[in-house]
Amino acid sequence: MIYLDNAATSFPKPECVYDAVDLYNRQNGRAVGRGTSDAGQQLQQIVNRCRFRAAQVLGASANEEIVFTLNCTDSLNMIIHGLLKPGDHVVTSVAEHNSVLRPLRHLEANRNLTLTLIDVDDAGFIDAADVEKAIRPETKLLMLQHASNVTGAIQPIEDVAALAEKHSVLLAVDAAQTAGHIPLNVDQPGVDFVACSGHKGLMGPLGTGLLYVSPGKEKELLPTRQGGTGSKSESDTQPESMPDRFEAGNHNSPGIVGLDSALGYLLDHGIDQLRQHEIAITERLCDQLRSIPSLTLYSSDDRKRHTGVVSLTSELYTSDELSLLLSQHFGIDTRSGLHCAPGIHRRLGTIERQGTVRLSVGFQTTQDDIDAVIDALQQVSAG
Ligand SMILES: Cc1ncc(COP(=O)(O)O)c(C=O)c1O
Repeated sequence: MIYLDNAATSFPKPECVYDAVDLYNRQNGRAVGRGTSDAGQQLQQIVNRCRFRAAQVLGASANEEIVFTLNCTDSLNMIIHGLLKPGDHVVTSVAEHNSVLRPLRHLEANRNLTLTLIDVDDAGFIDAADVEKAIRPETKLLMLQHASNVTGAIQPIEDVAALAEKHSVLLAVDAAQTAGHIPLNVDQPGVDFVACSGHKGLMGPLGTGLLYVSPGKEKELLPTRQGGTGSKSESDTQPESMPDRFEAGNHNSPGIVGLDSALGYLLDHGIDQLRQHEIAITERLCDQLRSIPSLTLYSSDDRKRHTGVVSLTSELYTSDELSLLLSQHFGIDTRSGLHCAPGIHRRLGTIERQGTVRLSVGFQTTQDDIDAVIDALQQVSAG
């Protein structure tokens, strides 16, 4: 089987992730921050290390800036519902995932929020100048993806951060498709919140996510859940200190243990190194895909401006048909459809064609895998 759906969730994970989760489940099984047993202390140390490693991978300056969440959707909802008030204006883009657009549309319908969705070009890139034009006096937040989960376009987020700083508006970045794939530096002026999945490029188990909150900005963000934290238990109000302010209820201990191990793997191997591998592999893939006349690629030629995500359509098959053929006859797992991002498909003109077939590589994808995919696509395209 060749797995090319790493943009949904990475698979397989590094072997050490399975080992760490298994060891935790069989020999520890404790809850984080509850109790003083040796096993509980050991778990606490792993959780602290995971936060430290996450801060390193994201480029945050302190562990307390990292909040554990359930997935990127959870992190994004925490930002949107914790920050925005009636009358606020938000600038976002047509290319966003539904985990951004749906909560924003919900507040637009129910809480008098106003939205501006900026457009993207044919390869899915936003233009920072359009972001600036959309900023109004009542703009509270710029909320943009770091990279598209459909075209892999890496957005000019440094330019957007400079605009956020210049216009004194907040910036929240959806880094679901970049965390672990490209080196990040969240600790820069203008970047206030960054939402990540733990289970995609960071290679942790499903059910893990991260929220970066820049120092001081936690005061502007109301927690959307309250509850036990294992700290300051004499008080019946939510602790204000980070990260407890946002971590009510028991943690996903097995998930965090696995994520810790995955982050250790990433730091050992170097995200830069893994990125070079992804660029080389995706370049090979795109070069060969372009030689199949019945396929259309939704990508620019510059791989440095893309992640390892590639979308295509075929003149001969619908996206579902092509994805099914690849799976049933060649054991190649891709993803067809709209990828929870209908706006970008509307923009690309692929919505009427049931979306695109998305191929997303990972650290485990080899050149042989790519050659097998090209061979399969050539065969099905030959009829
Ligand atoms: C750009 C983008 N944002 C957000 C999400 C949601 O991530 P999660 O599945 O971790 O909630 C995804 C998932 O595919 C995504 O691609």
